[in-house]
Amino acid sequence: MTHARQHPIQVVAHRGASEAAPEHTLAAYRKAIEDGADALECDVRLTADGHLVCVHDRRVNRTSNGRGAVSALELADLAALDFGAGRTRAFWRSRDEEPDWEVRPEDPEDTSVLTLERLLELVADAGRRVELAIETKHPTRWAGQVEERLLVLLKRFGLDAPASADQSPVRVMSFSARSLHRVRAASPTLPTVYLMQFVSPRLRDGRLPAGVRIAGPSLRILRSHPGYVERLKQAGHQVHVWTVNEPEDVDLCVELGVDAIITNRPRAVLRRLGR
Ligand code: G3P
Ligand code: CA
Repeated sequence: MTHARQHPIQVVAHRGASEAAPEHTLAAYRKAIEDGADALECDVRLTADGHLVCVHDRRVNRTSNGRGAVSALELADLAALDFGAGRTRAFWRSRDEEPDWEVRPEDPEDTSVLTLERLLELVADAGRRVELAIETKHPTRWAGQVEERLLVLLKRFGLDAPASADQSPVRVMSFSARSLHRVRAASPTLPTVYLMQFVSPRLRDGRLPAGVRIAGPSLRILRSHPGYVERLKQAGHQVHVWTVNEPEDVDLCVELGVDAIITNRPRAVLRRLGR
């Protein structure tokens, strides 16, 4: 059974348009906005000196020309690195090739470490509504500091306390229910997304941790748990699925009544959706 959606299916650019340009760079997010993405996804981590930066891995080794853990580096250390030199250096080296990005950034800022603050500025200047899905990465290590900094930053942009969750252009995602709980305790109207790589037995009936409105199952869950999206929707939840890149998987999401598709290829997904 397909559930009627209240809104058109939303296309969310995962780490920016991360197949066209290096992930989590200004270049990738600009491209996603140009491509027409409805929302941008980013992962946030705290630097040693307390700045929130958009980096997926614990270390910068894969995505830059540097080495080390984000949590052990200061913002100035990260600013000296080139995040356009990544993807993956190992990936390209194994092929004895240069990266073949569709977007070839020339301005060093476009591939410099991206702070969440700079990403919020980009969204504010987009000239149209672009939503932001911010994922807290391993927040438990920081005992609440990630969420605290995040809310301070959102407040600066007037985004920390939306009138209602439905109107909020920002949502916070996490695999950690505790992290989402902290966010809601500080800002009850900020929507939260519970990310799932697996479905724990106690949530199989479509329930989510208390207070969470949106489920974020992996694409694999859709295939391994037929009927799960249906149960989530019957329980009144929205469903945002990651990471959906292939046309047949887009079709599956449409068929199941998914509310948002998180993808590395926003332009291709929009096209598949006839937009
Ligand atoms: O959007 C959710 C998805 O990004 C979670 O997985 O590893 O890409 O952060 P990951
Ligand atoms: Ca993520």
